[in-house]
Order: sequence, then C-alpha cells, then structure tokens
Amino acid sequence: MPMLNIAPTTTIREVVDRYPGIQAVFRAHGLPCASCHVAAYESIMAGAALHRLQVGLLVDDLNAYARSGVVPEMRAAPAQKRPLSGGKLEARGIKHIVAVMSGKGGVGKSLVTGLLATALARAGYAVGVLDADITGPSVPRMFDVTDKAVMRDKRFDPALSPGGIKIMSISLLMANERDAVIWRGPMITGAIQQFFNDVHWGDLDYLLVDLPPGTSDAPLTVLQRLPVEGVVIVNTPQQLATAVVSKAIKLAQRMQVPILGIVENMAYVSVPGSDVPLEIFGPSQGPQLVAESGAPLLGRLPIDPALTVLVDSGRIEEYRTAAFAELAENFLREARRAGLPEPVAGGVAG
Ligand SMILES: Nc1ncnc2c1ncn2[C@@H]1O[C@H](COP(=O)(O)OP(=O)(O)OP(=O)(O)O)[C@@H](O)[C@H]1O
Ligand SMILES: [Mg+2]
Repeated sequence: MPMLNIAPTTTIREVVDRYPGIQAVFRAHGLPCASCHVAAYESIMAGAALHRLQVGLLVDDLNAYARSGVVPEMRAAPAQKRPLSGGKLEARGIKHIVAVMSGKGGVGKSLVTGLLATALARAGYAVGVLDADITGPSVPRMFDVTDKAVMRDKRFDPALSPGGIKIMSISLLMANERDAVIWRGPMITGAIQQFFNDVHWGDLDYLLVDLPPGTSDAPLTVLQRLPVEGVVIVNTPQQLATAVVSKAIKLAQRMQVPILGIVENMAYVSVPGSDVPLEIFGPSQGPQLVAESGAPLLGRLPIDPALTVLVDSGRIEEYRTAAFAELAENFLREARRAGLPEPVAGGVAG
C-alpha cells in the first residue's frame, strides 16, 4: 500500500485507519480522543486547533511514525515557545498589526484589506496578510495565490502574491478550495492563533488581518490575542449596515484597540458622461461614523466593475484609481501618525 502523505488537512480517521497504533502519537501530543467518533472525522489541523497544539510538530511526528512504525520521542510541548492561551502573543519580527473589520458581511473588508496591503507594498513596506476568515477565506483568490502552504522547520511558509505580499489562509491548507470548513468556535480561534504563531512571517512592516464579519469568536480572538495596534472599519452607506457597524466600533473601543479610520465602500457609482456620482445605497454615513468612532474617514470607494473584474481574476494589485490613491494616502498618513514606520529605501511608489 503506498504511503499516505499526512498533511494538516488529512482527516484523523484516514491516518488512524491506515496506521494501527498511531493513536499513541496523537496521545503523546495531547490529543487523546484521536479514535473517538467525532474527532476522527476532523482534519488533523482542526483537532490540533481545538486542543491548541502545534500542528506542524504533530504532522511531522505522524509522518515519522508512518515511515518507521515507532512513536517519536515527545518533543511537542517543550518546543512551544509562546503560549497559545493567556496573554497576548508576541509579534516577533512584525512591526505593526492592523485588523480590518466591520459588523456586517459582504461590505468589502477583504477587498479593502487587499487594497491596503497593495498600497503598503507599493510604498515599499514589507507586508503580510493573515486571512482570519476561516469559514469563508477570500484573500488568496484576490491575489491569484493557488500554491499550498509548505511546511518548513515545523512552521508554514506563507504564499507570495505576484507583488511580494506574504499570505496565509486556510485555503492554502485545503486540498480543494471549494471544500467547506465546518468548525466550531474553539477550532477557529485555535487556527487563527496558529496562523499568527506557526507561520514564517519573517520581518514585516505590516501584517494586515482580514476578519470575518461580525463581532463573534474570530474578531474577538484577533483583538484579544494578537498584538493588534489598530483597526480599520469598513462600511457601506446603507443604514442597516451602519447600525451593525456600530457594534464593531464598540468592540474595538471595549478592547482598547485604536480605530485608525473608516472606509466607506460602495459609496457611489460614477456615471459615464456625468460629474454627479450616483449614491445608490443612499447618502454617505461617513460623518456619523467619524463622530461615533472619533476616527477619520480614510476614503470612499465607488462600486467599480473594473475592480470586481480585477479581484475575480486575482489581479487586485493592478488596481489604480484616484479614489484608491486618496484612500492609500490617508491610510499611510494615519499609520505614520500612529507611529508606524517610514518606507524602506527603494520602495516603489504609485
Ligand atoms: N467597491 C467595490 N467595487 C466593486 N466590487 C466590490 C467593491 N467592494 C466589494 N466588491 C465585491 O463585492 C464582493 C464582496 O466583497 P468582500 O469579499 O471584500 O466583502 P467582505 O466584507 O470581506 O465579505 P465577508 O463578510 O463575506 O468576508 C466581492 O466580490 C468584491 O470583489
Ligand atoms: Mg471577507
């Protein structure tokens, strides 16, 4: 029988069925229920996330057992330098972490994360994007990233966008992008922490975190556990979306994470041959949100079919418009005001 290449997305059941006795490796890593009915159908990554284990070490040891039939010496717990529970995780080589959030789904958080990352990379910064949307990841597609994450020295290497932005997302661990991730809260929060801890981010000026909608487990984990220095709030002018976005503002305030600014997305449509933009979702709610959050309006982005095409074809880094340039300039100004670094020499502007 050919050897099973055990990956984070392999289900525990496949591994246990193929290699009798391998439960001992799971047990040694603190995953005692490897053969119980529920856990068995989860992926190794999900099981590791639930139990806050280092998935890299576990997968390595499972593969070692598959090759040799010997339970490797226990080395999981001592190798874990940074705690996965308790206080904030340590940022290591990452200078600044900014999360992008909104109360409501589909308002363009991922798009704004992608655009801000693009703006920072153009300004010469070393940038990474952590896709914290575990059940609805959309960052890799925007950047045309299809490679799977490669494990090196017990950690994952992030994927690289065409413009050199480092990306980590659950999609990079899944055999098929269309597979559904149906995980409970603790697995999601565990996975997000591992995407921060167990990825070779290297030296970054900025790590942007794309949050899923709402104010539940994932945003809470990111604001509580990652050393986030600021959040950007995304909203559309709809009244309903605005009411929900207030919750996101309150969450950031309660967690004492500064709000760097507000981005109003889908604010208008430019009509060919007319100077008057069409505000199809109603008038701007920006001033109200500025008053509520105490943070500036960084920009208003139109609904732009050209942008949809670029996003859908993985070419977000090619987007250039006056409205985006204004957003980029304001964001960089606010970031500098918050004490974030100047670009490194030789950065590409524009
Ligand atoms: N200004 C815009 N112009 C054109 N298309 C846009 C614009 N903003 C967002 N879109 C498109 O709308 C869709 C939703 O955007 P996006 O995925 O960024 O929202 P989201 O807030 O991250 O959603 P979710 O809550 O599901 O994570 C995407 O297909 C995106 O390309
Ligand atoms: Mg999104």
